[in-house]
Amino acid sequence: MKTLNVIGPGRLGQSLARLAVDSGQYQIGGVLARSEQSAAKALAFIGAGQVCLQLADLPPADLWLLAVPDSSIAAVAVELAAAQVVKTGDVVFHASGALEANILAPLQAQGALIASLHPAFSFADPARAVLTFFGTPCAIEGNAAACKLLNQFAQAIGGVPFALAEGGKGAYHAALSMAANYLVTLADLSLKTAHQAGIAPEMANSLVLGLMQQTLHNIQALGPAVALTGPIVRGDAGTVQRHLEVVGENQQAPYRVMGLATLSLAGDRVSPEQARQLKTALTQAEHALCTSGN
Ligand SMILES: NC(=O)c1ccc[n+]([C@@H]2O[C@H](COP(=O)([O-])OP(=O)(O)OC[C@H]3O[C@@H](n4cnc5c(N)ncnc54)[C@H](OP(=O)(O)O)[C@@H]3O)[C@@H](O)[C@H]2O)c1
Repeated sequence: MKTLNVIGPGRLGQSLARLAVDSGQYQIGGVLARSEQSAAKALAFIGAGQVCLQLADLPPADLWLLAVPDSSIAAVAVELAAAQVVKTGDVVFHASGALEANILAPLQAQGALIASLHPAFSFADPARAVLTFFGTPCAIEGNAAACKLLNQFAQAIGGVPFALAEGGKGAYHAALSMAANYLVTLADLSLKTAHQAGIAPEMANSLVLGLMQQTLHNIQALGPAVALTGPIVRGDAGTVQRHLEVVGENQQAPYRVMGLATLSLAGDRVSPEQARQLKTALTQAEHALCTSGN
C-alpha cells in the first residue's frame, strides 16, 4: 500500500486524502497544517494520518501532495527541499489548474518525480466533495513515471485521469476559465440587455438561463458549429447592426468581439458577401453606426 503525505489540509487536501483512505489503496502518512487546531480538524475528517507542524517532521511517503494555495506552492517547494525529507523517486505533486509541475523544480533537483494533478471540481465543502467526486476529470502533467502513478491515484479516488501535452497547462486553464467564467459574464451581459427591454428580472432569468441551458444541450449533442443559430449564421447583417444600435455601452465591445468569433465559427454557412457585410457591421465605429441609424 502506498503512503500519501498531505501538506496543506484545506478543502482540496482533506477531500483527496479522505478519498485516498476510502479507496483502501493508500494510507496517510503525515498531514502538515499551520496550526494544531486545523491539523486536528483535518485529521478528524480524513480519519487517518499523523499531525505534523514542521516539514522536517513529515514521515517517509511515496506520494507528497502540496495542497497549499497556488501563491504558496513555489515557496513551500523550496522549504520542503530544504527540509531534506523527500527521497529520490518519491512523487511530489500539486493540484493547481494554472501552474505547471516545474514549479516544483527544487524537489526535482533532489531526485523527486514532479507532476501536477488538477481535478476539474469545486471543493467548496470536503464532506460534500467526497460524496460527489466520482467521475471527475483529473488533468495530469509532469514527469512520465510520476504521471503513471498519479493516473493510478486518480482512478483509485474515483477520478477520470487524462494527460495534458507538455507545456499545455496554460491552454488547459484558459479553456476552463473561458467555459466557466466567461459563461457567467455572458449571462450577466445578456440579463442586463433583457432588462433594457423592460423584462422583469424573474422573467429575464427564466428566458436567458433557459435558452443558455437549451443551447448547452445542443452543443453537447451536435457540437458548436452545428448548434449555432441566430442572425450571424443566417448572414443577417441588418439585425446585427440594429443590435449594436441598442445594446448598452458595456455590451458593445463584447458583442463585437463575440460576433466576429461567431462569424468565424459560422464558416461557409454564410456567403462571402454576407460575411463581408457582417464584418463591416461588427467592426464599424460606434459613432458611424449611430449616424447611419438616424
Ligand atoms: N478548492 C477547489 O475547488 C480546488 C479545485 C481544484 C484545484 N484546487 C487547488 O488545490 C490547491 C489548494 O486549494 P484549496 O482550495 O484546498 O485551498 P484552501 O482550502 O485555502 O487550503 C489551503 C491549505 O494550505 C494551508 N497553507 C497555506 N499556506 C501554507 C503554507 N505556507 N504552508 C503550509 N500550509 C499552508 C492552509 O492552512 P491554513 O488553514 O492554516 O491557512 C490550508 O490548510 C490549490 O493549488 C488550488 O488551485 C482547488
